[in-house]
Amino acid sequence: MEILRPKGIYFDNAATSLMPREVLEVLIEHYSVKRSNVGRGMHDLGKEVTQKVEEVRGKIQEYFNAYDFYVIFTFNSTFASNILALSYTGPLNSLLISVEEHNSSYLPWFHKARKENAIIDFLKINEKWELDYESLDKESYDVAVITAASNVIGKVNEIKKIADFIVVDGAQLAGHRSIDLDHSNIDAFYFSSHKCLGPYGAGALLIRKEKAKLITPNYLGGGAVKSVTSDNYVLKPLPHGLEPGTPCIAEIIGLGKALEIIKENEKMIESKEKELVKEMHEVFEELNINYYGNTKDNGKLPLFSFNVEGLHYNALALYLNEHNIYVRSGHHCAHLLMDYLGIKGSVRASLHFYNTSEEIQTFKKVLKKVIK
Ligand SMILES: Cc1ncc(COP(=O)(O)O)c(C=O)c1O
Repeated sequence: MEILRPKGIYFDNAATSLMPREVLEVLIEHYSVKRSNVGRGMHDLGKEVTQKVEEVRGKIQEYFNAYDFYVIFTFNSTFASNILALSYTGPLNSLLISVEEHNSSYLPWFHKARKENAIIDFLKINEKWELDYESLDKESYDVAVITAASNVIGKVNEIKKIADFIVVDGAQLAGHRSIDLDHSNIDAFYFSSHKCLGPYGAGALLIRKEKAKLITPNYLGGGAVKSVTSDNYVLKPLPHGLEPGTPCIAEIIGLGKALEIIKENEKMIESKEKELVKEMHEVFEELNINYYGNTKDNGKLPLFSFNVEGLHYNALALYLNEHNIYVRSGHHCAHLLMDYLGIKGSVRASLHFYNTSEEIQTFKKVLKKVIK
């Protein structure tokens, strides 16, 4: 597998991962000789492309063991979270939100809960950086929104049966490893292609089939309706009922290829990432920097957020940038967590399996110089 890389040390994979050449080749093939639309038309090209897009639904089900789920194509996780919250018509008297949520998971549900006068509770974190289900006053909620892995802490969360409808943000987890959705407590799950070795502009929302009755699509248009008359219309069932308009066809096919590559290399990715986490952990220990979520837990994603006393996180990111090391700094769209941790922001170095020990050692050398 050849990963296409920019020059320099790319440690911003939690924002967007890099992409294998095979995925780019899928895009080139589509845009050069297969370009056509899906779901309509009788010609061969349209049929072929429709079939390829439909096959990706199957690949996503296979990747997440999600045969009990509908796979709805979206443009990214943010879009998935918004359509889900807007289309959810089940009970919402109480909402539980983990303090680790990215704004794209928090805000659509916060907005809906406010409109429906629902009680909103927050799921905190205990001293082991685990979600503190024990601290909740209520035994169950109508809806809970919980991230599979925080984009600041990188720890993989346990999803307990705490609500009748459990929504899980898979944006950070999906590009590193799968999760067995059929055997989980999860009712809805979403992720973005661009964080999973895939192209921009594609993503998916997975909804447990037995919970589909709680969803009423409200984006209307071509592709989502079965019939239209001058005084009525009938929507298609899921998944197509939630997919009006032309999807990002090439990007969906590219996402399918990317997931295939991750699946084929699952074992290698797991062991490589374990090594990276271990080495990064040692670097932080040696430099005496405590990253958020430090529990010596080897199961975490290779993602490290930290602050250095006396140095603004943006200044540190710029300093690293001068040495061609690309990290993210700021609030990471996780305002709830920033408040919870009592900080305004942090530096985040996020790696993927294709990063190397040599890069980590350069990162260490540069960081050492600046914290002296
Ligand atoms: C945990 C998490 N959820 C959701 C998102 C939103 O992803 P996208 O911008 O692809 O919609 C991100 C992006 O950084 C994220 O880290």
